[in-house]
Amino acid sequence: MMEALTLPPLRGAAGTVRLPGSKSISNRMLLLAALAQGTTEIRDLLASDDTQVMLEALRRVGVGITALGGNAWRVEGSGGVFPVKDADLFMGNAGTAIRPLTAALALSGGSYRLSGVPRMHERPIGDLVDGLRQIGADLRYAGNTGFPPLSIHPATVNLSAPIRLRGDVSSQFLTALLMALPLTGQRAVIEMTTELISKPYIEITLNLMARFGVKVEREGWQRFTIAAGQSYCSPGILHVEGDASSASYFLAAGAIGGGPVRVEGIGRDSIQGDIRFADELEKLGATITWGDTWIEAAAPRGKLKAFDLDLNHIPDAAMTLAVAALFADGSCRLRNIASWRVKETDRIAAMATELRKLGATVEEGADFIAVSPAPTFVAGAAIDTYDDHRMAMCFSLAALGGVAVTINDPQCVNKTFPGYFEAFAEITAPVIAIDGPSASGKGTVAERVAAALGYHYLDSGSLYRLTALAALRAGVALGDEAGVAALAAGLPATFEGGRILLAGDDVTDAIRSEEISVGASKVAALPAVRSALLARQRAYRRFPGLVADGRDMGSVVFPDAVAKTFLTASAEIRAERRYKQLIAKGMPANMHALLQDLRERDARDAQRSVAPLQQCVDADRVDTTAMDIEAAVAAVMTVVRRQGL
Ligand code: DC
Repeated sequence: MMEALTLPPLRGAAGTVRLPGSKSISNRMLLLAALAQGTTEIRDLLASDDTQVMLEALRRVGVGITALGGNAWRVEGSGGVFPVKDADLFMGNAGTAIRPLTAALALSGGSYRLSGVPRMHERPIGDLVDGLRQIGADLRYAGNTGFPPLSIHPATVNLSAPIRLRGDVSSQFLTALLMALPLTGQRAVIEMTTELISKPYIEITLNLMARFGVKVEREGWQRFTIAAGQSYCSPGILHVEGDASSASYFLAAGAIGGGPVRVEGIGRDSIQGDIRFADELEKLGATITWGDTWIEAAAPRGKLKAFDLDLNHIPDAAMTLAVAALFADGSCRLRNIASWRVKETDRIAAMATELRKLGATVEEGADFIAVSPAPTFVAGAAIDTYDDHRMAMCFSLAALGGVAVTINDPQCVNKTFPGYFEAFAEITAPVIAIDGPSASGKGTVAERVAAALGYHYLDSGSLYRLTALAALRAGVALGDEAGVAALAAGLPATFEGGRILLAGDDVTDAIRSEEISVGASKVAALPAVRSALLARQRAYRRFPGLVADGRDMGSVVFPDAVAKTFLTASAEIRAERRYKQLIAKGMPANMHALLQDLRERDARDAQRSVAPLQQCVDADRVDTTAMDIEAAVAAVMTVVRRQGL
């Protein structure tokens, strides 16, 4: 049975996303490191299906590869000679793996067979094979002429004449030849016989080859020369930038859903052409801010501007604009995108079919798509994704039209971005923030509201309580800011069906003791502890939504929460509730001491310098002094329902 993910209607997007590594850079670096002299350590490598395909293929031809943990890998360079001379290689649907490997293997004096998934056998490779055959390489089609599967045989190559290569179907053929030719040690010249598409990808190739010590002379986009006697040499340690194509979904979400949405891991000096997506988004009316290691998109609520753009330079990120067109104030046209037809699926046809499901009028041509948005989105559309990761990621944006959208086969995002929907939820899933002082009834109310809505629940206070308990157990003083923050950052806590575990130990009741209540309030005043717990709290934001209770849910952790309430009650009634709770649990309690403690804690929570307890200007105040739980839940639900949830 096919899986499906239904996204709830979304009303905005804001927050920060750490990008996974770039696919284009990851697979190029892996191959160059394998071909080089010396050992390379590659950090922040993309962990996905397509990089797995490359890693596995390189292992099969005898390249030494070691996982160092945390997406760092060590690659023992083979100096251009793969140790294994005969192998069958399965390339899945990874174009960035099969094209460059075909060229490198064809020049490495072995016998190899390369195949992939059925769609891979429909994706062209003929221009590359023609280019390699011109210099004497021996490649044969094992299926249809012009397409994988292929077999490769040892051959002697002769580079005396320039290689004449087409560049109008895929730029990956040129990338493949450029990366492989230094293996010959001879002078090599490539002349393009057509216009070259997707030029920025060639810039990535040349940039990375240079980092491994091989220079290519380029005359326009016509002629490329590699001087004789160059070979790859490991630069030692390399970092992979965040993926600029993956960034496009979040930047678009910021432009459509208000923002600001920040992507971390790429910035103004990125070597990836797809960062230019941000410029195109700016033409649609978004506000883009560039940092060294981040890009941010925001936009006033309302429609994006209609557009008519040549997108040949950003073919992958351009898909995101086709879905952004649904939010434009008129008809939009995406031009010069013929390469979409030979990607993971026929992306022009797939895009047209699925956009129509949302109500748009779509016209498609050989190399363009025109999208006229409907005045309102069709609710409940089920989007097919054609085993194409970008279809799945693009169409998640449609839920920002305020309608539920079902994405069929959502796990196809694993090709380049296994955690995509979790990351998307962190900037878009609706959050209901319930803040207030200790014992105001927040916890019980929040849990019931979450159950009523079918949302997830975050008891943020428990994280501060767990931190205090962990510090006491580890003998770290509660005033030792760095020490406590380090514990908070790596808190071995798990939440299992109402029970809370710390390093496997059930501490559900232990963290509710008065000692820990006081300790939690102390560690919560330490700025380093608060920032150590920030990402952890935000990771609770998942579909279909989250109810979060604490002190700074609406002010700091989820400032874009759709509904914010400030739940409070008189100190006396709160002390009385706590007293009853403790007695019910058979724990010792003293009314006078409880009231005193509560007042001290209120003062500490309200007066600390970071994220003090306070009512946000946009929060509704609910005073529960004279309310029972049912009445308090009903009061919060009224605020929630007013937001249309
Ligand atoms: O909500 P609670 O009583 O379980 O919280 C325990 C302590 O943690 C409390 O003294 C304040 C602090 N806290 C905080 O500073 N920020 C939050 N978001 C939640 C709790």
